[in-house]
Amino acid sequence: MELNLKDKIAIVSGGNKGLGAASAEALAKEGAKLLLTARNETDLNSVKTELQENYGADVGVLPLDITEDGAGEKIVEAALEKFKRIDVIINAAGAARGGLFWEIDDQTWRDAFELKFMGAVRLIRAAIPQLRTQKSGRIVNIIGMFGREPANRALPASAVNAAFMAINKGLSQELGPDGIFVNAVDPGPTRSERIMRLFEDMAKANNTTPENLENDFRARIPIGRLGEVDEVARIVAFLASEASGNVNGTVLAVDGGMTRGLF
Ligand SMILES: NC(=O)c1ccc[n+]([C@@H]2O[C@H](COP(=O)([O-])OP(=O)(O)OC[C@H]3O[C@@H](n4cnc5c(N)ncnc54)[C@H](OP(=O)(O)O)[C@@H]3O)[C@@H](O)[C@H]2O)c1
Repeated sequence: MELNLKDKIAIVSGGNKGLGAASAEALAKEGAKLLLTARNETDLNSVKTELQENYGADVGVLPLDITEDGAGEKIVEAALEKFKRIDVIINAAGAARGGLFWEIDDQTWRDAFELKFMGAVRLIRAAIPQLRTQKSGRIVNIIGMFGREPANRALPASAVNAAFMAINKGLSQELGPDGIFVNAVDPGPTRSERIMRLFEDMAKANNTTPENLENDFRARIPIGRLGEVDEVARIVAFLASEASGNVNGTVLAVDGGMTRGLF
């Protein structure tokens, strides 16, 4: 299938590891040009080098903490300075601690919302004037299945994801008339640094080991295994492309069938 992403300009938050880096790779393979952002500059530069060497990709990096005021504007300015337009935004920055609800303090809740939810709000909000001027754009939010089916030992992530789904849907309605598409993927447990940290938190709260917890998850995934980041990334690239046609306001599960609900 032709994705027509050649020379499209994509911003990827959380672009230096995990699902963000994998999404950047999927886009680079299709010929997109990238601005990657996250905090760790060394990791950003190693993804940049890999994409340049493997795909000849044109990649810029912006080390920054997306929880800071004005972060969205800085990312958009950097993309426009380097590439003059923005076609795609991938919101992949995120992480939330888990544990027993009554042991999770205020700061943990604030951190969860500040990073993933407010990080995406800041970036999308800052990009809207440019996307509206262009009358085009594809926003892809990496959310997560706990938003649809809350995990009682990972409630900060579950609540953030549910809130994120609300803006995913609302913005698709608000921005559709301007030719801007807003979609999301809902990964199930997918092998990355973050999920291993979350497994450690959840294992502690469940009085078990991360290995046992992973096995419990496997048993609940119909295909019997965790997802891999490139499996999510391929769907992200599809939603970032015109090949996804009139798909707008959707949240696509990429979870081996783990989500049981119909909606
Ligand atoms: N892996 C899964 O199983 C899974 C399942 C469902 C949903 N998700 C969601 O997918 C997203 C990516 O997760 P992942 O598994 O790929 O996690 P990851 O490997 O830990 O990546 C998280 C990314 O966010 C960046 N980040 C963290 N704090 C930041 C900050 N303050 N400012 C800017 N960037 C920041 C990290 O880079 P720096 O640390 O360098 O800043 C990194 O690039 C998350 O929102 C997660 O909830 C993941």
